[in-house]
Amino acid sequence: MTPDHKDGKQNTMEISVIVPTFNEAPNVEELVQRIQSALHGRQAEIVFVDDSTDDTPAAIERVAAEAEIPVRLIRREHPEGGLSGAVLAGLAATVGEWCVVMDGDLQHPPELIPVLLASGVEQSADVVVASRHISGGSSAGLSGLVRQLVSTSATVLTRAMFPTKLRNCTDPMTGFFAFRRSSIDLASLRPRGFKILLEILARNTVTVVEEPFVFGERHAGESKADFRQGLRFLIQLATLRFGRLSGFALIGALGAVGNLAIMALLQAFGVWYLLAAIIGAVVTIVTNFLLQERFVFHDLREEGRHVWTRLAQSFGFNGAETALRTYLLWLIVGATNVPGVAAQAALLTVGFVLRFVYHSRVVYRPKRTSSAGYGVEAAPDFLTDPAADEARAR
Ligand code: GDD
Ligand code: MN
Repeated sequence: MTPDHKDGKQNTMEISVIVPTFNEAPNVEELVQRIQSALHGRQAEIVFVDDSTDDTPAAIERVAAEAEIPVRLIRREHPEGGLSGAVLAGLAATVGEWCVVMDGDLQHPPELIPVLLASGVEQSADVVVASRHISGGSSAGLSGLVRQLVSTSATVLTRAMFPTKLRNCTDPMTGFFAFRRSSIDLASLRPRGFKILLEILARNTVTVVEEPFVFGERHAGESKADFRQGLRFLIQLATLRFGRLSGFALIGALGAVGNLAIMALLQAFGVWYLLAAIIGAVVTIVTNFLLQERFVFHDLREEGRHVWTRLAQSFGFNGAETALRTYLLWLIVGATNVPGVAAQAALLTVGFVLRFVYHSRVVYRPKRTSSAGYGVEAAPDFLTDPAADEARAR
């Protein structure tokens, strides 16, 4: 083994396991034991990045003294960037050829680490994601129906916002993954909230493969996920790629204005108002479709479906959405005291999100690719320019 530098950083290392911890004292010992038996005989280290307010640092130091593999503690006095910031600090302090990121509460089984690494090597992948959402995986350990629901919605929305980057990743929310250090530009990552994997995948062009895993019950202590983390996550999403979503929204808004203008014009020529409304709707649905094709989903047009199929799907969804929304508006206004405009505003918002998800995940759904064939990302345009993302991220 190569001699340690003064700061404890070594020249070479095969595997660096990075574990962010916040008040995980009762879990440290079992975690280290299970990681070291899973990686027995390999050149590996464990680095804890700790922001705890309890005696976790003492527990880590106690375990480190007895461990067979190097165990280091990075104690952060100023815990910037929360969980993601801790992971980035751990990555900066290590040199492992492969980096593994996992939770310190044993919800991520250490026995899966060698499986992730083997999968990455065999399939020549840059990133191996431990996924709860492929066959053999499960998120049963997520406490509570509400969290399950939030997690599922967040995953669906996120995949809709990053259809190509996440085409091979079913679980961008997972905190358990491995990657080749050389394939990631660590300097491009911004620590924000809980979702560092999303940051890695969104800002790099990498080959991704997945291994299923069962998200276990927390061993001890309590989860730090809360409403604030949820809000941070939404901001992270928005900052990472407001491109596609905001382009979609802009075109939708222009369509609404166009719709009204057409209706007014036709009525001025004496056309019956309902007929004018229908013509306005048809014209705007079609022009919206053409604009979305040209500006928002241009990189996904050739993913398989025929242009007429895409138009039919888009038309069908918009028509059904308008009809259902109008019916719900009638129901709500009739049965409650909610003012019509407020109800319509809420319905329009929900309709907009659903429309975006539907277009991104159904109409322009990218095919999964084999790991070997992946790597060609769409050319950036004015909506998805990474430089603009960078500027916003600052
Ligand atoms: N250093 C540091 N600083 N560690 C933190 C912080 C922090 O501010 N907040 C949480 N952690 C550590 C915890 O100690 C634990 O090891 C890990 O990060 C995950 O935190 P939990 O509080 O256990 O999160 P969870 O179980 O609710 O969320 C898990 O599931 C998410 C997907 O649903 C985590 O695996 C997330 O990474 C994952 O995205
Ligand atoms: Mn947890």
